Amino acid sequence: YVIGVDLGTSAVKVLLVDKNGTVAGEVSRSYPLFHEYSGWSEQKPDDWVQATVEALKELAAQEGINAAEIEGISFSGQMHGLVLLDSEGNPVRNAILWNDTRTTAECREIEAALGDKLLKVTRNPALEGFTLPKILWVRKHEPEAFAKASLFVLPKDYVRYRLTGELHMDYSDAAGTLILDVAGKKWSDEVLSAFDLPASFCPPLVESHGQTGTLLPQIAEQTGLSAATKIFAGGADNACGAIGAGILSEGLTLCSIGTSGVILSYENDSSKDFAGKVHFFNHGKEDAFYAMGVTLAAGYSLSWFKKTFAPGESFDELLAGVGDIKPGADGLLFTPYLVGERTPHADSQIRASFIGVDGSHERKHFARAVMEGITFSLHESVDMFRQAGKTVDKIVSIGGGAQNPVWLQMQADIFGAEVVALENEQGPGLGAAMLAAYGCGWFASLDECAERFVKHAKSYQPNADAVAAYEGLFRIYQQVYGATR
Ligand code: XUL
Repeated sequence: YVIGVDLGTSAVKVLLVDKNGTVAGEVSRSYPLFHEYSGWSEQKPDDWVQATVEALKELAAQEGINAAEIEGISFSGQMHGLVLLDSEGNPVRNAILWNDTRTTAECREIEAALGDKLLKVTRNPALEGFTLPKILWVRKHEPEAFAKASLFVLPKDYVRYRLTGELHMDYSDAAGTLILDVAGKKWSDEVLSAFDLPASFCPPLVESHGQTGTLLPQIAEQTGLSAATKIFAGGADNACGAIGAGILSEGLTLCSIGTSGVILSYENDSSKDFAGKVHFFNHGKEDAFYAMGVTLAAGYSLSWFKKTFAPGESFDELLAGVGDIKPGADGLLFTPYLVGERTPHADSQIRASFIGVDGSHERKHFARAVMEGITFSLHESVDMFRQAGKTVDKIVSIGGGAQNPVWLQMQADIFGAEVVALENEQGPGLGAAMLAAYGCGWFASLDECAERFVKHAKSYQPNADAVAAYEGLFRIYQQVYGATR
């Protein structure tokens, strides 16, 4: 067996996976998020560690599991979160997460200091969610905490460090810091020196399938796992989501609708220039890359809608009836900007809207409009990939958005592409387990592992009438941003 640890924003999920890619056990533990001020989003790094250790312990204790047969563990992590460590390896403050938007001023500072180099070296624009602006924010606003910090890591790197005693970061997660030379796969001296940060502030870089030690004896004791269990670096959650969905060769695109939503396109090399309009990061597959557009409030929009207008109901109850309504929700349109928007607007101030509310609309129209609005937002990324010359005709859909057949058909109709759902989809946790399986030498490549582990289920073909209707609606949707701004 191997274990994939998926360190998410609301919970950690650990998956026990056998040599056929079958999930033999699963445990999840949640932890709190702290929003002290509007736009702030923090977590306590030690909550992640405690939850992960407890989840591993429960998994190892499951009936029929012999801990000695668990060969390796790897990780998928929420991206970009800043964990500052002192010289003893203790966090100097709470982690500042990917969905925290306090750093607009620091983003402007980064743009002014780096100019063209920013896109050339980091391949990404300065966005509030990324790590470097958070580092600059702490330095400016909490100089005492900053003075104690001797280096930074990302969320899953901290958990891995506490499990092994070793500090590392993999390329796929490092790519989201805005300090990595993405094509050159090294920390950028240019970026570090522009902000007077020493090279020692960044941990050593490794491949996602690279081994980064074994379990510390005390963790082995606490969890019941063997101290010989090999620990592999793992990757960014979006890279691991791509691996777990088999997005490992040119021509494959991923749609993932979780709290945030992404459209991700595999890139064999770093030659394609998206001019910073979409993110461009290192893949968890060695020497590969991916381009990605992000909708900040994707599944979050639907959860917000359910919590606010249908508390106590299940998603199935909320969504019953949305399939009876025609594309366009009878004139009701939603923009999913509840917490701002990343792609294509990179605007942390914009907020959501319902437009065209009619006296005949029922709650199910609103639910459908929310699903359509989220999918329109993701389509802006699909559209950009196409404009950059990519063919997007087959999209693997994962996450909450792949749980509902009406939504899967809607994706096919709005994207104008075949949409494929996976059998027993496990998201980034499976990608993490695959990195461990490959790292343990079970397979000669990640691609070979995917052939065994990733199984396509149903496929949804775009319906010509719906495609035509959505093309017109999408143009109206695109005007709402400017009009409501
Ligand atoms: C990607 C991003 C989110 C987080 C969620 O740039 O910010 O998708 O990775 O964990």
